[in-house]
Amino acid sequence: MSDQYTEFAHLLVDELTQLDSSWIRNTAVPEVVSIKNQHHDDIKLNLTPFEVSVNDDLAGQYFKNVDSIDGLIEVYKQICDDFNFELDVTSLSVSDYASTFLNNVFINARKKMQVDDVSLIVKFIKDLDCYTAVKSIESLLYSHSDLELLRIANSQGWQTHFDHIAIRCGSSEHDSANKIAELLINNYGYNHPRIKNEDYYLFEDGWSAYPLYKILNNGQVLRIFVDQSESTHPKQIIQHWNHVYGFTAHHLALRLTTVEQGERWAIPLPKIISLMTQNGRQVLTPAGYYTKGVLSQVFTKPEKNINIPEVILNNKRAICDKLPDMLMNAKLLEIVSRKEMSRKLAEKYFNLYELDYNASTALHSAVYYHYFLPVQAAHVINSSIIV
Ligand SMILES: [Fe+2]
Repeated sequence: MSDQYTEFAHLLVDELTQLDSSWIRNTAVPEVVSIKNQHHDDIKLNLTPFEVSVNDDLAGQYFKNVDSIDGLIEVYKQICDDFNFELDVTSLSVSDYASTFLNNVFINARKKMQVDDVSLIVKFIKDLDCYTAVKSIESLLYSHSDLELLRIANSQGWQTHFDHIAIRCGSSEHDSANKIAELLINNYGYNHPRIKNEDYYLFEDGWSAYPLYKILNNGQVLRIFVDQSESTHPKQIIQHWNHVYGFTAHHLALRLTTVEQGERWAIPLPKIISLMTQNGRQVLTPAGYYTKGVLSQVFTKPEKNINIPEVILNNKRAICDKLPDMLMNAKLLEIVSRKEMSRKLAEKYFNLYELDYNASTALHSAVYYHYFLPVQAAHVINSSIIV
């Protein structure tokens, strides 16, 4: 890690601890702050930005003339042909149903998708790279909550930011997450964060994850949470979900911001939850309010998929009788809120990547904390399997 990133983290720590005395500077590691959670545990956050070179692989060139659902699906398929995806370059396999699931997503979208919603989707994905654009389309065409959040942001005049996607990859028995991480690093320019404790997470209940990062020249940060079951836990849900739904994102995570008085502000989670609820979407239990806005997140209720073939459900039932119901919890939305740093520091943050900051530029969001809190990731995963 080069000095300019850690030096910048010290400025972030100065600013955050001055803003709110609940945050305590770690005297041993000055780029780390800590805060007590609701159980009085000390939660540590390393504020060092991830180090990557800026990438100019924008999906926008593919989508510039798209104004219909047929056009959107045609371009989606073009990108799938032009780029390498999971099943093109790995020996990993999923159920035949995984492609049926996806085909049905497109059939239903062609029947039901309104042209205004297509415009919202195109507006969102054109600022992503081709990998996250493809995964986001699959999510936005299927999950009602995903699309509802785009509609809410549009009606409120808020900016929607891609926060991350979670790709479920099978099991460590097949080195699945590593293989997908390699695909993303070699084909799309993603990187491990190169910060101790943030490059690999191992969870006690039998799963692990490799978070990967990238920044585009429009300022958009892309995060991918690449996870897998541990081979020691054959009942763990991730490997079975991957078998049923393939490499579609388990969830797309979105953030909303607005610009007021020349500064960008995160829309707080309670405000978004309230609007989602008013618009008929069910939201589960939030996590992270103890961080005072630095990182809070919540899942929406998963889409219920009752079309999984009986033969697959019976096979899963033989492994664990809870799996069939858990697997009917298909894709969902994660709503995230990450606190924005001051304008003065945002300028310095974008300079780390040799980008000129402008608060009113749509994707110039500069957040204190870029990573995932494992304790919160575990909470949201658990809330997503409740049946
Ligand atoms: Fe997530």
